[in-house]
Amino acid sequence: MPGPGMELIGEEEKRELLEVIESGYLFRYGSPDNPAFKAKVYQLEQQVARLVGVSYAVAVNSGTSALLAALSGLGVGPGDEVIVPGYTFIASISSVIYARAIPILAEVDRTLNLDPQDVLRKITPRTKAILPVHMLGNPARMDELKAIASQHGLLLLEDCAQAFGASYKGKGVGSIGDAGIYSFNIYKTITSGDGGMVGTNNKEVYGRVFGLHDQGHNPMRVGVEVGQRPFVGLDLRMTELTAAVLLAQLRKVDGMLARLRANKRRFKAIIADLSGLEFREITDPEGECATLLTVFLPGEEIARKIASALGTKVVADSGWHVYSNMEQILEKRTITPEGCPFTCPYYKGGQVDYRKGMLPQTDDLLSRAINISIGVSDPGLGSAFGVTIHDNDDTIDACAELFHRTAKAYL
Ligand SMILES: Cc1ncc(COP(=O)(O)O)c(C=O)c1O
Repeated sequence: MPGPGMELIGEEEKRELLEVIESGYLFRYGSPDNPAFKAKVYQLEQQVARLVGVSYAVAVNSGTSALLAALSGLGVGPGDEVIVPGYTFIASISSVIYARAIPILAEVDRTLNLDPQDVLRKITPRTKAILPVHMLGNPARMDELKAIASQHGLLLLEDCAQAFGASYKGKGVGSIGDAGIYSFNIYKTITSGDGGMVGTNNKEVYGRVFGLHDQGHNPMRVGVEVGQRPFVGLDLRMTELTAAVLLAQLRKVDGMLARLRANKRRFKAIIADLSGLEFREITDPEGECATLLTVFLPGEEIARKIASALGTKVVADSGWHVYSNMEQILEKRTITPEGCPFTCPYYKGGQVDYRKGMLPQTDDLLSRAINISIGVSDPGLGSAFGVTIHDNDDTIDACAELFHRTAKAYL
């Protein structure tokens, strides 16, 4: 069971996709004079920028590519440290390593997002950026993080891979920091199987992101050479096929979020009276995606018993979303043996150590947290228990009552 977007794939996506297939033109660049060229990627960039409230957007082939492009676009590189939460998908950390910078792991708090107090403790003269991740559809404490970033002269890159469509105090996630990234993989709000996007209000950053995503070309490129290429780039481009599916998905976002939010409120109300159970702190209940409902139990043992009785896991055991399960990060297993960026002479921070137990607050919270699916059932998120966006009120009530009965037996 993937995310809500995949559950809603239907005629609209088929129509958009057929338009591209029938035109026979699948590439993101084309001439406006060519009737076969439908400019789906361009339209998607414009529409996403409008929806999230940024001036510029660049479509890419995954959220991981978006992270790499955004970090490089912001100028993060050798010698820099980037503060990332210890609870995130591995790409938020691996992309920093591929930008040849050093990820510095920080605690999450009861929002399950970056803890501003720990961010303050982790800042060094080498810190270049803070990378909050809006985990499980919920914005991080952006007011506090933005204030810290501006007081310390740091960049703020929002990883909104899991929170497309969410907002924080009226602002779309990804529009608050210096740049934001989105993912369209199968577990995300909207999906095309894979895909990603970078958003920013900074024209210069946009130019650099665009160049990185396409061999150094500048953003005016429509398939023809335009001027000099200021640096070496890659090919992270999105195809017209991917964008066609996403354009159809985009039209479903509002309805999808309204339904998820209503379903989550319903589920939550049924289990709210359980004494000893607490809900994850939500920074902006109006703006959350509501794809998941996370509860904290009073202790690890009881949480494990309840999770196991429900056929799911505590969040601490949910694979690659928890730093202590990322063996390739803990052991700094780089692709080539010289160990770049950890051995980089530009890096003046000495030996970087990652180890299990290094984030005790995160470990404690995740060991007694259970994720309940409202619209995303992902074994990697530990949300094997819950409902889908298709479920009706009766099914939601039955599932919530089952949770209630099971938890009550242990509480
Ligand atoms: C928080 C977070 N960041 C980045 C990514 C990477 O996105 P993608 O899988 O599209 O590369 C994901 C994907 O799961 C994610 O959850």
